[in-house]
Order: sequence, then C-alpha cells, then structure tokens
Amino acid sequence: MIEISRAAAALRAGELVAFPTETVYGLGADASNPAAVARIFAAKGRPADHPLIVHLPDAALLSRWAIQIPECAHRIAAAFWPGPLTLILKRHPAVIDAITGGQDTVGLRVPNHPLALQLLREFGDGVAAPSANRFGHVSPTTAGHVRDEFGAAVSIVLDGGPCDVGIESTILDLSSAVPRILRPGMLDAAALAGVLGELPLLGANADAPRVSGSLESHYAPTTPLRLVADIELDTALSEALGKGLSVVVLASRPASTSNPQLFWHVSSAEPARYAHDLYANLRRFDDLRRDLILIAAPPAGPAWCAVADRLRRAAAGAK
Ligand code: TXA
Ligand code: MG
Repeated sequence: MIEISRAAAALRAGELVAFPTETVYGLGADASNPAAVARIFAAKGRPADHPLIVHLPDAALLSRWAIQIPECAHRIAAAFWPGPLTLILKRHPAVIDAITGGQDTVGLRVPNHPLALQLLREFGDGVAAPSANRFGHVSPTTAGHVRDEFGAAVSIVLDGGPCDVGIESTILDLSSAVPRILRPGMLDAAALAGVLGELPLLGANADAPRVSGSLESHYAPTTPLRLVADIELDTALSEALGKGLSVVVLASRPASTSNPQLFWHVSSAEPARYAHDLYANLRRFDDLRRDLILIAAPPAGPAWCAVADRLRRAAAGAK
C-alpha cells in the first residue's frame, strides 16, 4: 500500500506519523532517533521526563529493546499480543534516554490494528508513540480527532476509522519481582492473572517510575466536568440548572427532566461499549460549549475499573 510505504519512509526520515491502534491513535516516531523522538515531545507539549511506549511489529523484537526478560513476560506476550497491553521491562542499554525518561525500564507493546501492524512491519523496528493528543487532553479515537489536535503540525495521519477499544492499553510492570498494573485498561487483572498464575497488584509502588497517565489530572475535556454518584445526579443537575448553567449529562438512564439548557446523552450500560464511546463523547460535549458536563459514575466492580479510572482523571483535570 502506497500510503504505508510513504508513512514508513517518513518515519525513517525522522518525521512524525499519526496512526491508529486498537486503543487510541498514536503519534509515532522512530524510537531509535533522538531528534525524531524530540519532535513528539515538542508537538504534544509533553514534559521531557515522561517515558514513551515503543510499538513493535512482533514479540520477536523484545530482546532488542529489553533485557532480563522474565519467563512470564514471554507467556503474557504470547497470550495477549498483538493487543491492548503494554509491558514494562528492564531496558536494553541501547534504548535512548528520551524514550525511558532516564529510567532503567522501557514500555513495549505490539498493537492489534491492521494499519499499525503494516506500518510497523514495513518500518521493521520500534516506533515510539504516545497517544496523539496534546499533553493532558483527551486521547483521540478517530483520525479527525488527531487533526483537531495538531492540524498541519502533523502531516501524515493514517486513517483506520474509530478505535475498537477506545481507551489506552493496560500497563503491566514485569520489571520487578511482583507484577503490577500501573494503568488499568480493558484487558483486566483477572485475564492477566490467568496467564501469570497470580493476581497483579494495582497501582504503582512508592519508588515507581513516572507514568504520565497516572497524573491525577489527565484525559480531560476543556469544559468543567463533575463525576457524581448516580443517586446524586438529579440533585446536582437541578442545582446547576437553577444557577442558570447549561449542562450536558452522561448517564446510563434516560433524562429525568427536560430543559432547553440540558443536553442528556444516554451512555451504554456495557463497559466495553462505554469505553469505546468515552473519548468521542467527551470531545462532542466540548463542542457543544456548555458550562458543565455531569457524569453519573458507572457501577463499581472490576469490569468498570479502567473506565472509572479515566473518568476520575478527567474530572480532576477539567478546568
Ligand atoms: O494504548 C496505548 O498505550 C496508547 C497507544 C498509542 O499505544 N499509547 C499511550 O501512550 O497511551 P501515552 O504516552 O499517552 O501513555 C503511555 C504511558 C505513559 O503514562 C507513560 O508514562 C507510561 O506509559 N510509560 C512508558 N514507559 C514507561 C516506563 N518505562 N515505566 C513506566 N511507565 C511508562
Ligand atoms: Mg496519553
């Protein structure tokens, strides 16, 4: 495919290429080229000490990027790659500091999207790619979102349609004795435990590496966003409307009231569909230019863990 060859050539020339993955769109650069990687940080406005995920065409390249790979990492890679999972492993000495944020670990993943895999195979090595959004903003799940974020600053945007999963990969740290999930995703702890033989811990330990997705405020729309328990939604809504605010509501039930100042969006009651739609919904709500986004918190429970994590950070980061 001509478009893929052109994109791979651009990567070889040190340019940025945005491409679809099954989770969100990535902003890619040759992970072995410091000048190209610097372009990612400049385009995103991302702090230079935040490490990047390196995307690989297949798990056979693991040993070019990581050392002291535990046996369980091979089993996990065989079970879940290509797929929405990033592994944190001890870095190979050849990995440049701009990728690792100067840490002794590296994040690696084989994405499950035909265009991403074609690009990676044609390029033949690691492509560093954070989500293709400006730092702290909502991740893009369509090529149109990427163009909205970067405009002419990113000239090649491969269009693979809307992303299947819709939120970022699960990050599993296998660089120390105890497996840990540093960022929950739709591939959940129980699925990982089935292959690891033990349940991974959730959350970073005290001396954990920096994870930008773990900042309390992240994935945020520009409209103020409040996350409320479902039973508090009606009270919060009438308070806001009473103050004369225009409001968008995201809840899994139909509108409890009608008001010209109110736009009510019924979310899916199913976690995978909710995740698939989440970032596109937040962007759409921003476009409506209302005063407030009110979201009814989804149910507790492991199936909603990743969605709840993103909603919490979106609420913390909203201006
Ligand atoms: O689904 C995804 O993972 C998407 C697609 C494009 O692959 N990528 C993505 O990249 O979400 P980004 O940069 O937005 O988030 C990557 C996360 C960051 O929170 C970063 O700090 C963390 O991965 N990370 C990367 N290398 C790490 C390392 N060595 N140790 C700990 N965290 C790391
Ligand atoms: Mg991101």
